[in-house]
Amino acid sequence: MPLRDRRVIVTGGPTREWIDPVRYISNASSGKMGIALADAAFERGCETLFIHGPIDVSLLAGKNYRTVGIESTAELLHAVIEEISDGCVLIMAAAPADYCPAERSHEKIKKTGMELVIRLRKNPDILKRVAEERAAGNLNGIFVAGFAAETTDVERYAIGKLEDKNLDMICLNDVSAESAGFGKDTNIITIFKRGGSRTDLPVMPKRDAAERILDAIEESLQA
Ligand code: PMT
Repeated sequence: MPLRDRRVIVTGGPTREWIDPVRYISNASSGKMGIALADAAFERGCETLFIHGPIDVSLLAGKNYRTVGIESTAELLHAVIEEISDGCVLIMAAAPADYCPAERSHEKIKKTGMELVIRLRKNPDILKRVAEERAAGNLNGIFVAGFAAETTDVERYAIGKLEDKNLDMICLNDVSAESAGFGKDTNIITIFKRGGSRTDLPVMPKRDAAERILDAIEESLQA
């Protein structure tokens, strides 16, 4: 089935893990890469859903596809599992927090000492959970693309994630590069596919990178 006949779920933005009523753990993802992908999928005629963490909602003004807001990584997992179905294309451009506080304080934590230790617990891995569902035969004909935001040994880690999370494709962005990654309007992507192919894209606006990523997905779906 070609891409335009598929349901495309894109995730974008950060997640937020509350420590107490006034403080949280998060990261600098703006949601721009995810929005660029959702825009590109929608314009290709795909039924498009954008699931996003806490981002500047003005970025979503005028969008004609469905958007769902979530806050934590646990909520993102829940939304993805609820929405994904046979034949979907899932593109995980979100930057979910890998850890959350083991306990959330219901009162503001007071500044009592020179050090404060907060115990963190590992969050669920959404792509691994999707891979488990797929392995159990619950999601037929899906295509899953992940992103890898890396700063060192970038290729090794990206290929490791492609294999570990049983992805069809991974988009590596070396976020230490000046024109790539969190909050920027441009990105530098290398696409690795299951089976070994590799495409290096030069620096380009996130929207153009999104088009190239969708071209790569389209090519895989037609193969
Ligand atoms: O939002 P922008 O400001 O435009 O920035 C874009 C971006 C840099 C956030 C984006 O291009 C990007 O790289 N997103 C992935 C960030 C990330 O979490 O990378 P990771 O290497 O930690 O995770 C690998 C993959 O696993 C990602 O597809 C991620 O969505 C997914 N993941 C991560 C953690 C988790 N608990 N579950 C997951 O499924």
